Amino acid sequence: GNKNINSKLVLLGDVGAGKSSLVLRFVKGQFIEFQESTIGAAFFSQTLAVNDATVKFEIWDTAGQERYHSLAPMYYRGAAAAIIVYDISNQASFERAKKWVQELQSQGNPNMVMALAGNKADLVDTRKVAAEANATGFVLQLTCLQEEAQQYAQENGLFFMETSAKTAANVNEIFHEIAKRLPRV
Ligand code: GTP
Ligand code: MG
Repeated sequence: GNKNINSKLVLLGDVGAGKSSLVLRFVKGQFIEFQESTIGAAFFSQTLAVNDATVKFEIWDTAGQERYHSLAPMYYRGAAAAIIVYDISNQASFERAKKWVQELQSQGNPNMVMALAGNKADLVDTRKVAAEANATGFVLQLTCLQEEAQQYAQENGLFFMETSAKTAANVNEIFHEIAKRLPRV
C-alpha cells in the first residue's frame, strides 16, 4: 500500500551558497535575485510522491554565517537527510561543505541520507565566456571542481548533483533522489 513518510531534512553550507534559494525554488517555484541572508534558520515543508510513498519533507534551512554555527546541531540532530550546498564558482564554499560533511559524519545520524549540491550551475556558461575572453583558465578550474566533488561525494557516501536555484536545474531531482533513498519503515 501507499506509505506516508515524514522526513526531517536540513540544508547546510557556506553563506551565500544558495540554501534558501534551493528551498524557495523547491517549495514555491520561485527565485529571488537578492535573497536575504538567513538569520538563525527557517522552516518549510513540502510533500513529494515517489514510487510507493508520499514523503513529507520538514525542511530546516540553516544560516551559513559563522556566528550561527553553534545552532546547527539542533537542526541536523535527528534529521533523516541533509543537503550540503556549495557554490560552484566559489572554491572556499566547497572547502566549507567538506567541513559540514565531516561534522555530520561524526555528530549526525549515521543513517542520514546525504546529498552534495554544487549550486549556481548556471554560472558555468558565464565563466566560460569570461575565460574565453581573457584566458584566465576558469573553465578548467570549474571542470576540475566538478570531478573533485563527484569523487569526494563517492568516497564519503553522498550523492552529488550540480543544481541551479536560478534555472531550476536538478532542484526537484535532488529532493526526489533523497526521497527515493529514505529508508522505508
Ligand atoms: P545564507 O542564508 O546567508 O547562509 O545564504 P544561502 O546559502 O541561503 O544563500 P541564498 O539562497 O541567500 O543565495 C545567495 C545569493 O546567491 C542570492 O543573491 C541568490 O539570488 C544567489 N543564488 C542562489 N542560488 C543561485 C543559483 O543557482 N544561481 C545564481 N546565479 N545565483 C544564485
Ligand atoms: Mg539562507
